[in-house]
Formats: sequence, C-alpha cells, structure tokens
Amino acid sequence: MLNFEFQNPTKIIFGRDQISKIATEIPQGAKVMMLYGGGSIKANGIYEQVTKALEGFEVVEFGGIPANPEYDILLEALRIIKAEKIDFMLAVGGGSVIDGVKFLSAAALFEGAEPWDILKNSIRTFRGLPFGTVLTIPATGSEMNSGAVITRKTTQEKLSMGGPGLFPIFSIIDPQVITSIPKRQLANGITDAFTHVLEQYMTYPTQAFLQDRFAESIMQTLIEIAPRVMDNPADYEAAANFMWSCTMALNGLIQKGVPTDWSVHAIGHELTALFGIDHARTLAVIVPSHYRFNFDAKKEKLAQYGKRVWGLAEGDTDAVAKAAIEKTEAFFHSLEIDTALSAYTDQFEGTAEKIEQRFQERGWLGLGEHKKLAPADVAKIVTMSY
Ligand code: NZQ
Ligand code: ZN
Repeated sequence: MLNFEFQNPTKIIFGRDQISKIATEIPQGAKVMMLYGGGSIKANGIYEQVTKALEGFEVVEFGGIPANPEYDILLEALRIIKAEKIDFMLAVGGGSVIDGVKFLSAAALFEGAEPWDILKNSIRTFRGLPFGTVLTIPATGSEMNSGAVITRKTTQEKLSMGGPGLFPIFSIIDPQVITSIPKRQLANGITDAFTHVLEQYMTYPTQAFLQDRFAESIMQTLIEIAPRVMDNPADYEAAANFMWSCTMALNGLIQKGVPTDWSVHAIGHELTALFGIDHARTLAVIVPSHYRFNFDAKKEKLAQYGKRVWGLAEGDTDAVAKAAIEKTEAFFHSLEIDTALSAYTDQFEGTAEKIEQRFQERGWLGLGEHKKLAPADVAKIVTMSY
C-alpha cells in the first residue's frame, strides 16, 4: 500500500425529506446566493423545498447554469457575487451546478486578473467562498470532493481545477430527487460513477486489500441496482444505494494508498469539449479501447475485477481479463449507452490528431498509472474507439 493522507471535511446529510435542514447548516445572517441549472428543480418540487428552507435568509438567485458549466455564464454570477457581497453559496443541482459553484468559490477570492488562469494554470485553491449543496442527480461525487470541471465554449476547452478549499461545507442527499430524472441521465450517472471506480482501480496490484474491496463493492452495488433504478426510479432503496455509491466512488476514500489512472476522463473531456457528448458517454467510449490498448499493464487487475466483480471463473489471466472488458462494455450497453464514438459523431476526421496536439501543448506527455501514456498513444486509443 502506498503512503497517503486523507481528509474530507464535507458533512453529508442523507435521507428522505432532509432538504429543510439547509436552514440550520447555513451560518445565520449569511447573504446567500442560490444557484441552479436549466430549470428541472422548478418542475420537480425541489425549488419549493429549498426556497422554503431559505426563508429567513437574504437570498439572491442565479439560475441557468448549463450542463457542462460554461465559463462565460459563471462570470455573470461572479459579477453579482462581488456586487452583492454574497458570503455563502448554495448549489442546487448535479455535477454541473456544483462544479460551477466551486469555480465561483475559487474565483470570488482569486487575486489574479483572469479567472480562467485558475484552470489554465492549474492553480490550486486553498481558501474559497463557503458553499453547500443540495444534490439533485447522482453521478459525479462532486457533492463530497474538491474538484470541478469547467467548459469554455469559445475555445472548445474543458479543464479541471480543485484544491482543499473547495470541499462543500455540507451536502444534502435525498434519494427521492431521482424520481424526476430522465432515463438517459440515470444511465449517465451509473456509468460515470462506475468509471470513477475503474479509474482508481484498474492499474496494477499494490496489496491494498481493503481499497480494492471498497472499489469492487461499489461496482457490484452499481451493477445490482442499475436495472432497478432504470425500471423504477421511485424504488427508494435502489435510489438510496445508487446515490451513496456515486458519492463514495469519488470522495477520495478509494484512491488512497493506490495508484490511479484518470486517462479515460482526460480523453473523455476532450470529446465533450469538441462534440458536446455527455460526459458519461465519452467515458463508455474510451474505457474499452483504453483497456485493450494498455492490456499488458492492466491485465492483473482486469482479471481480479473479472473474477470478483463479474464472477468470471474460466481461463487464465489473459482470458479472464479480456472477458472482463467485454462484460464492462455489455454493462454500458445494458444501460443503452453506445460505446463507439461513431454513434455520436461523423466528424471524426482529425479528432485523434487534434487531441494528441492539445495534450502535447499542455505538457500532458505521460498519463496513466505509470506516467507513460504519450499523446501519440492517446491518439491511437481515440482512433480505436471510433
Ligand atoms: O439543468 P437542469 O434543468 O437542472 O437539468 C439537469 C441537466 O440537464 C438534469 N437534472 C439534474 N437533476 C435532475 C435533472 N432532471 C430531472 N430531475 C432532476 N432531479 O440533468 C442534466 C445533467 O445535469 P448535470 O449536472 O450536467 O449532470 P452530472 O451530475 O452528470 O454532471 C456532469 C458534469 O460534472 C462533471 C462533468 O464533466 C460534467 O461537466 N464532472 C465533475 C466531476 C467532479 N466535480 O468531481 C467528476 C466527473 O468525472 C465529471 O467530470
Ligand atoms: Zn466522471
């Protein structure tokens, strides 16, 4: 097991009818900005629950943060935060709204001239404007981690940021929120969380028995609840296990003491930036090619995963590892998620080269657990996924 430090300060308030607890979690007298997305919260009753809980606070609303939170829109919110002297933010939404709020948390106290530098120059945030979240869609784990991913349409970029100052103070997770989520988004959530576990697991064995079993149990739980959630999002027990799995998949715990990869996300973000493909679907496209391309480096863990998560028993390490990739692909297909890039775009020409060039320019010369995946390899993986 590798050395590690672990600290996660986010308070989780989990369960039925917990949204009203916002009132006791936000500091009394705070001037609050409530931020949300394109309006789903106005159709499913979450808006009413939140505004009722915020009675007694001075509140400024900012709606319209789009999926893949857009930099230019966030700058409008930033102007208001400064002009109104907001001292607490409440994100009501999924990864996009929460990530947008994390950017604002950093940007509100940033002393540089151009907030995009936080992303471009990977500036870590050690102190941000405090915020809490009401999670409306399980997927990213953003409700209990300190990372964010921001999109900039004008330059077709999608970049990550983070730092210990960007954990939410609290997050409210009420599994009842998923009843209004369209099937497509439920499938995205399951796929995203599943891939988060893969990125922190599919490397090489390090004798981290407990972390491996944490990871395997999250994947097994997602596999178990997936058909129930897809058939009936009002199935509370399935919804509760779904939401908690997504949070646990990316709150820092399972990555401690083990190597991680994150190449699938790095490549996937480019596909969203270039083609607007849903985040989770880009991951389903890249996962099979990435594991096939890096088969020798990953086959021990692939085989362990095949045996323990999928119950594969037949054959040697290579055979089980190969079958495990097929099982993973079939799982994504069972959620009606296509795993070929050609299903999402016919504008493929030049894509692999463009991504290779961007990674080269950013100095991302060695990705993966061994820091050996060169931009030219990335181009090959993208080509394989078409
Ligand atoms: O905008 P509204 O109208 O609210 O609709 C949203 C949106 O269209 C809808 N939705 C959310 N809750 C709903 C609902 N519809 C009905 N009922 C509800 N209860 O769902 C759509 C997708 O929302 P979004 O927030 O974009 O989804 P998700 O949580 O999957 O977030 C994706 C973003 O998070 C980033 C992704 O790159 C992407 O930008 N990620 C963030 C990570 C992190 N911070 O740790 C890690 C991830 O790997 C990921 O990169
Ligand atoms: Zn993700």
